[in-house]
Amino acid sequence: MTEKVKLTIADKTYELKVVEGSEGEKAIDITNLRQLTGLITLDPGFANTGSCVSAITFMDGERGILRYRGIPIEQLAEYSSFRETVYLLINGKLPTRSQLNRMSMLLNDHSLVHEDMRNFFESFPRGSHPMGILSSMVTALRSFYPELQATAEEINITVTRLLSKVRTLAAMSYKISRGHKVVYPRPDLSYCANFLNMMFDSPVRPYRIDEDIVKALNTYWILHADHEQNCSTSAVRVVGSGRVNLYAAISAGIAALWGPLHGGANQAVIEMLEDLQHNGGTVERIIARAKDKNDPFRLMGFGHRVYKTYDPRAKIMKAMCDKILDKLKTHDPLLDLAKNLEAAALDDDYFVEKNLYPNVDFYSGIVLRAIGIPTNMFPVMFAIGRLPGWIAQWKESVDDPMWKLNRPRQIYVGPNETHYRPMDER
Ligand code: CMC
Repeated sequence: MTEKVKLTIADKTYELKVVEGSEGEKAIDITNLRQLTGLITLDPGFANTGSCVSAITFMDGERGILRYRGIPIEQLAEYSSFRETVYLLINGKLPTRSQLNRMSMLLNDHSLVHEDMRNFFESFPRGSHPMGILSSMVTALRSFYPELQATAEEINITVTRLLSKVRTLAAMSYKISRGHKVVYPRPDLSYCANFLNMMFDSPVRPYRIDEDIVKALNTYWILHADHEQNCSTSAVRVVGSGRVNLYAAISAGIAALWGPLHGGANQAVIEMLEDLQHNGGTVERIIARAKDKNDPFRLMGFGHRVYKTYDPRAKIMKAMCDKILDKLKTHDPLLDLAKNLEAAALDDDYFVEKNLYPNVDFYSGIVLRAIGIPTNMFPVMFAIGRLPGWIAQWKESVDDPMWKLNRPRQIYVGPNETHYRPMDER
């Protein structure tokens, strides 16, 4: 029997349907609430609101679970590649060998970007943040590569273009920002190795591909590939719901990801640790500031809207951090600081009571630093990783029979009707 909940308003009782997901998560279906009762719901930050039904990613914040299409993140991080995970997220199943080979071929075919796009790069003022540049460039892709949408194959080409070109654009932006010669993609390299080569190869110092670094980058991107209805993914779905082209919807996702409470946190963590290192701060002072209600400062890389015990991605990232630094024989004093800060926070009543644990970004910046990625490129690295998730969610939303233009309501608290007063009477 379908479960129902009863809602009583004044002397009337309404029955609302309960929807249950495949993992037993339940929601009250309020689709007809306003029509039935004249009332809407109010939920700032959407903390209690399911915006859609989705078959892509499952998260359980209490048990620290993250699965893509049913597969635990721990298994994907260990055994999969980013390319394979991209296929899984977008197509719903792990690829066969021939499907994966075809995907690699398409990624290779679409990896170059129009030479005229370089003019854009060169027009951005020096010091522009790479996330702003990337977001603009992705919108610009629509003009250089008109969207194809009629058939599944055409959608596939647009999607492949995005996946391949965003990676090339990101590496190009780094080279141009340094005033260096752009390195083109190579057909013989994998998705991640190609990116590293485009970033770091130079005519005077050829880049040597290191399989351990390639594996680390694969893992980093797998961990970021999707995270159900987070801020940037919701931006992609909301913007996409107006039936805008895919490039514009993804560009909105990049803009949303830029913020320090979301994808910009990886940059903010390193800046916080560097500040601590260089300006004579102490772990105790930083913890005290994070707890002070009169100080807007937050401990970056700590806390999560969904995870309330631990972030499973953070666990993998922390282990990877030790492994990469060990492999590169690098000692990063920021890692020691991060570990001290983590230990102090986890021992502090404020963080314990509020269920604040390190999130994926607490350690990801140290891994990216070790690979040689500059700090202001960290959110761009996150964006490349999240791209397949955005695309999968966008695809799911446009195919959804329950699809609707996203248009929330509000409770108005402004002035009641008041009359226009001519300038001289004000
Ligand atoms: N440092 C200090 N206090 C915190 C922190 C923090 N990092 N995070 C939350 N709090 C406190 C907050 O002040 C509030 O206290 P009170 O109840 O006394 O007002 C309480 O904890 C709940 O905070 P909230 O902002 O209502 O919780 P939320 O679920 O909306 O916040 C968050 C989630 C990620 C925005 C927040 O934890 C935060 O700002 N963290 C730092 C930024 C960060 O690391 N972001 C990366 C998230 S992981 C990457 C991704 O997936 O986007």
